[in-house]
Amino acid sequence: MSAGPAASAGPAPRAAPTAHAAPAASAAPAASAVRTPAPFGRRAVAVTARERHGAYTLLRCEDAGGPRPRAGQFYMLSAAERWGGGDGERPFLPRAFSVLRAPAEDRRLDFLLEDVGPGTRRLDELRPGDRLHVVGPLGNGFEPPRERRRALLVGGGVGIAPLAIWQDQLEDSTRPLLGFRDRARAAAAGLVSSARVATDDGSFGHHGVVTDLMRQEIAGRESEIEVYACGPPAMLEAVRAVCAELAIPAQLALEAGMACGFGACFGCVVPTRAGLVRLCLDGPVLDADRLESALLPGTGH
Ligand SMILES: Cc1cc2nc3c(=O)[nH]c(=O)nc-3n(C[C@H](O)[C@H](O)[C@H](O)COP(=O)(O)OP(=O)(O)OC[C@H]3O[C@@H](n4cnc5c(N)ncnc54)[C@H](O)[C@@H]3O)c2cc1C
Ligand code: FES
Repeated sequence: MSAGPAASAGPAPRAAPTAHAAPAASAAPAASAVRTPAPFGRRAVAVTARERHGAYTLLRCEDAGGPRPRAGQFYMLSAAERWGGGDGERPFLPRAFSVLRAPAEDRRLDFLLEDVGPGTRRLDELRPGDRLHVVGPLGNGFEPPRERRRALLVGGGVGIAPLAIWQDQLEDSTRPLLGFRDRARAAAAGLVSSARVATDDGSFGHHGVVTDLMRQEIAGRESEIEVYACGPPAMLEAVRAVCAELAIPAQLALEAGMACGFGACFGCVVPTRAGLVRLCLDGPVLDADRLESALLPGTGH
């Protein structure tokens, strides 16, 4: 186990956190309060490894100049060379990625990518020795579970990324539950320890959705669990609905289209019960009870 978060300000008492990086001030409540601020500007870092995990690519880099991120925080990434602007290339804004792993003892940062378009395809081409521009860590992170509750990590697809680092940082958690479309994608489940897996097509693990496993895991333990979830919008909405029905607190790592990642462009605005928020600043982790729905407009792939 490595270090955990340094500060908490939730609606109910939370378990004592262990020492980590310094928190920054935030006006937003609950899960929005915990973050490690990014140094100003982007940094060029070296890619040190690239691994395939089923349908996904793990990209590792050495971030000598950056602070250690909290679980749930993200980085804006772009390739240092050939990132659009050339002949026939679309000029790219950087793309947002959750940190998959960032061991406290070294300067390593791991990301998990799914090739869904030109930006992720270019990042997927990077090999050891290539250079990457990083801005981060950005946004807030997960908060420790409220007192007397244990963390239940629930992930879908490439959304397992922030759960791997959270599992590393938590002192205690129940067996994680992960959902994937098929066996090829489920190969990435090995990045999270001891996970139970569901696949949509039944080619590996439970045949069905991850919320089937979640209901089994939670039954009779509603007062002992706090859910941490990241995945596609439909999965997050199903998780939110189950947690609302059973009165279980949940922290959801959400996505929205992000152009800057630090509050300047308003491209990532999402509706909450209390009004619109910029997900890059107030999130990406939001307490589920702040949302009417996790099916946020303009997101989903
Ligand atoms: C906070 C945050 C953390 C993220 N973490 C990861 C991660 O760990 N691994 C990973 O592979 N991806 C992650 N993403 C999504 C990633 O940023 C997008 O997949 C990427 O920007 C797509 O860029 P592209 O140029 O390849 O494709 P584009 O052509 O830009 O998009 C391809 C398709 O993906 C959809 N899409 C693009 N961006 C988003 C988004 N932010 N949310 C939902 N749908 C989107 C588009 O509508 C389109 O259908 C994260 C996004 C956010 C906001
Ligand atoms: S991404 Fe620019 S304000 Fe959030």
